[in-house]
Amino acid sequence: MGHTIITNKFIVTFISVLLFLRTESAQPPFSCDSSNSNTSSFPFCNAALPISQRVNDLVSRLTVDEKILQLVNGAPEIPRLGISAYEWWSEGLHGISRHGKGTLFNGTIKAATQFPQIILTASSFDENLWYRIAQAIGREARAVYNAGQLKGITLWAPNINILRDPRWGRGQETPGEDPMMVGKYGVAYVRGLQGDSFEGGKLKDGHLQTSACCKHFIAQDMDNWHNFSRYTFDAQVLKQDLADSYEPPFKNCVEQGKASSVMCAYNLVNGIPNCANFDLLTTTARGKWGLQGYIVSDCDAVEKMYTEQHYAKEPEDAVAATLKAGMDVNCGSHLKKYTKSALEKQKVKESDIDRALHNLFSVRMRLGLFNGDPSKLEYGDISAAEVCSQEHRELAVEAARSGSVLLKNSNRLLPLSKMKTTSLAVIGPKANDSEVLLGNYEGYSCKNVTLFQGLQGYVANTMYHPGCDFINCTSAAIDEAVNIAKKADYVVLVMGLDQTLEREKFDRTELGLPGMQEKLITAIAEAASKPVILVLMCGGPVDVTFAKDNQKIGGILWVGYPGEGGAAALAQILFSEHNPGGRSPVTWYPKEFNKVPMNDMRMRPESSSGYPGRTYRFYNGPKVFEFGYGLSYTNYSYTFASVSKNQLLFKNPKVNKATENGSVLNIAVSDVGPEVCNNTMITVKVAVKNQGEMAGKHPVLLFLKHSNTVDEVPRKTLIGFKSVNLEAGANTHVTFDVKPCEHFTRANRDGTLVIDEGKHFLLVGDQEYPISCISMISQI
Ligand SMILES: *[C@@H]1O[C@H](CO)[C@@H](O)[C@H](O)[C@H]1NC(C)=O
Ligand SMILES: *[C@@H]1O[C@H](CO)[C@@H](O)[C@H](O)[C@H]1NC(C)=O
Ligand SMILES: *[C@@H]1O[C@H](CO)[C@@H](O)[C@H](O)[C@H]1NC(C)=O
Ligand SMILES: *[C@@H]1O[C@H](CO)[C@@H](O)[C@H](O)[C@H]1NC(C)=O
Ligand SMILES: *[C@@H]1O[C@H](CO)[C@@H](O)[C@H](O)[C@H]1NC(C)=O
Ligand SMILES: *[C@@H]1O[C@H](CO)[C@@H](O)[C@H](O)[C@H]1NC(C)=O
Ligand SMILES: *[C@@H]1O[C@H](CO)[C@@H](O)[C@H](O)[C@H]1NC(C)=O
Ligand SMILES: *[C@@H]1O[C@H](CO)[C@@H](O)[C@H](O)[C@H]1NC(C)=O
Ligand SMILES: *[C@@H]1O[C@H](CO)[C@@H](O)[C@H](O)[C@H]1NC(C)=O
Repeated sequence: MGHTIITNKFIVTFISVLLFLRTESAQPPFSCDSSNSNTSSFPFCNAALPISQRVNDLVSRLTVDEKILQLVNGAPEIPRLGISAYEWWSEGLHGISRHGKGTLFNGTIKAATQFPQIILTASSFDENLWYRIAQAIGREARAVYNAGQLKGITLWAPNINILRDPRWGRGQETPGEDPMMVGKYGVAYVRGLQGDSFEGGKLKDGHLQTSACCKHFIAQDMDNWHNFSRYTFDAQVLKQDLADSYEPPFKNCVEQGKASSVMCAYNLVNGIPNCANFDLLTTTARGKWGLQGYIVSDCDAVEKMYTEQHYAKEPEDAVAATLKAGMDVNCGSHLKKYTKSALEKQKVKESDIDRALHNLFSVRMRLGLFNGDPSKLEYGDISAAEVCSQEHRELAVEAARSGSVLLKNSNRLLPLSKMKTTSLAVIGPKANDSEVLLGNYEGYSCKNVTLFQGLQGYVANTMYHPGCDFINCTSAAIDEAVNIAKKADYVVLVMGLDQTLEREKFDRTELGLPGMQEKLITAIAEAASKPVILVLMCGGPVDVTFAKDNQKIGGILWVGYPGEGGAAALAQILFSEHNPGGRSPVTWYPKEFNKVPMNDMRMRPESSSGYPGRTYRFYNGPKVFEFGYGLSYTNYSYTFASVSKNQLLFKNPKVNKATENGSVLNIAVSDVGPEVCNNTMITVKVAVKNQGEMAGKHPVLLFLKHSNTVDEVPRKTLIGFKSVNLEAGANTHVTFDVKPCEHFTRANRDGTLVIDEGKHFLLVGDQEYPISCISMISQI
């Protein structure tokens, strides 16, 4: 008997421990719980049926009121059908973010790996790195979800608007200014996040690890500049620029990345709010590009159509305009409030709602959230141990060092010798701050390490002084900072911007360094015993011509916002453990560029008015640093080892559109036709040699330019990039498959893609290789 009592007590204790564990580790919400026989037998819970059939069944069971509540980001549960709540809004731009409504960092998981801000990751020009980062974030998202701390696994990233204007506060979130490169970043990122079930991945039928979202569709690259606000800005975009600058990243993200979401942006384009644009959302994204997934409005974009844009006369008109255009879910609450009355006023039909719900529930099913307990399903075993794992944190350091761009290195000041450096002075208002390293859309870092602390780990005698009051440097303690600098063997100045000066809803109004930073840097450089090192921390580029020209500033290293691994990466670069290979994904404009109105969306220059155009493809003014610029501790040399063709002959009698003014003869790609296009390729082999004494990772950039410089035609265009690892003195070949119908194209004024006739050059470094494009008609 006594024995039984003990056993019972033991059992009771055991059960309460189990109950305790169950309440302690919150379970993620899920639908179709097999323990609920009332609901689990619905056809929509049958994972063996095709998703569209399951969704039809589900939607057919909903009342109108239930349907309406599902049209906003915070979708409530529907207990009578065993359907759980779902939060569509989670962020994961460069790590699980604390922004968005779906993320809770208050459970057992208190941090997640914070990778560099995108502008820096992009500078590595390394697609595989981009993919690996997104995969890590996708796995961390599943882990956080499995721990019950993420209320949805639809992440609203990547941001693939091109960085059209250097002042944009959100430029930091983007992969830079080149449409092809931004598109490739989008594809790599989406595939990594979503789990790559499309190309040889183990999950079939479009199942998703997490869902990625290509944003902001389209032409949103100004937040708040002078009188212009993204909420009301009516961007005047030429068909030509739309076709060869603004659209390509989104086309790639959807077509090749197979993104399961697109976010429509706040602004209007040529008079129509993006989220109300049927041509854009339905004809183009869903129709031409084959989007399978959901379209979400940017937050409160639907409401703004009524309250600020006055595009909608009544609140219900905004409901109708967006649902009919093809938007599926409203980040915000406008559709929750006004869809019922829109139905009553017959501005929308129930079938408009059903269409949206079909897209929404399809994505939830593809995420595996209608198959019962997710802990027993694919991805259910991704544990909290993967969040902030050693592997992910090392990847964050790798990303920071691969992206950092060496902009100046006079007399080979860098790298420093760890042995011989006796002392360091680190000066800068944010040099001993870890949060600044993250940029925006940040989460909590696994470990907080400041740049100062990172360097202190290498040189024990490292002194610190903030130099300025704040990053805006409204006042500077120049004398004190100079005194510290004088005592040091080497001086590292950490200057630039932070989120108080460039962020969402806040564009810059000048392009130089803020406040007294320049004065402080110059004074310290003057006083220091050796040339100083300037570490620039900023997302958008700044005009640092003064530092470029100052002999006493020996090195300039741009570190973007390098993420939680930034301190380790900086120390490794300065002290010779890593050979920097990042190349700038943006043009660095001089201060005078500030006279160009930010609201002017034209990419191409206009000689008659002096408008200089934008980005390296079109801008015709002076530059501080070029797109693709970046030094290293070695030199690389290139030669064209072989090019399979030096002439492209298009034998199509229909071709040869009449020339436009200031343009050159060109051939429409559609007239070349898919058959010829598919069978025309140029194989370009570039020999690359590391001429220096240090191994390095180096991105090789291949450009194309036309022999004729006219405003219509890009000055040059990036057509390929590949990263190579080369030992000192080693050489290798890099092969590029150049497809003329893709890589030789630009848009005509009517938006058709064309190939220019005449002489082109392939460019790599200072090497050129001529290729002629000829069509039969021009020869007649
Ligand atoms: C199943 O339905 C019955 C009858 O409506 C109800 O009493 C019971 O609570 C339901 N079970 C669950 C798990 O919801
Ligand atoms: C975390 O925060 C959420 C939302 O505020 C709250 O519902 C939940 O109870 C919190 N969890 C813990 C463990 O404090
Ligand atoms: C901004 O608005 C004010 C007042 O409406 C106007 O005077 C000013 O010219 C505008 N500035 C710009 C840059 O458009
Ligand atoms: C640097 O920051 C750390 C963490 O906030 C702080 O503990 C330390 O005192 C700071 N060091 C200096 C020299 O200000
Ligand atoms: C890092 O800093 C953030 C913000 O200052 C803080 O909330 C967080 O707890 C810190 N994380 C660690 C691991 O110390
Ligand atoms: C400088 O930055 C600080 C901190 O962000 C802020 O409080 C102050 O208002 C700024 N000064 C100016 C002139 O913008
Ligand atoms: C690279 O080559 C340039 C020009 O020949 C030379 O000035 C520079 O010192 C070299 N740099 C390195 C790191 O070898
Ligand atoms: C070309 O220029 C002529 C003369 O300036 C003008 O009349 C014509 O409209 C222009 N054509 C186009 C396509 O812009
Ligand atoms: C050209 O290639 C595309 C993509 O691979 C393919 O879908 C299309 O059918 C091809 N067209 C022709 C005419 O070969």
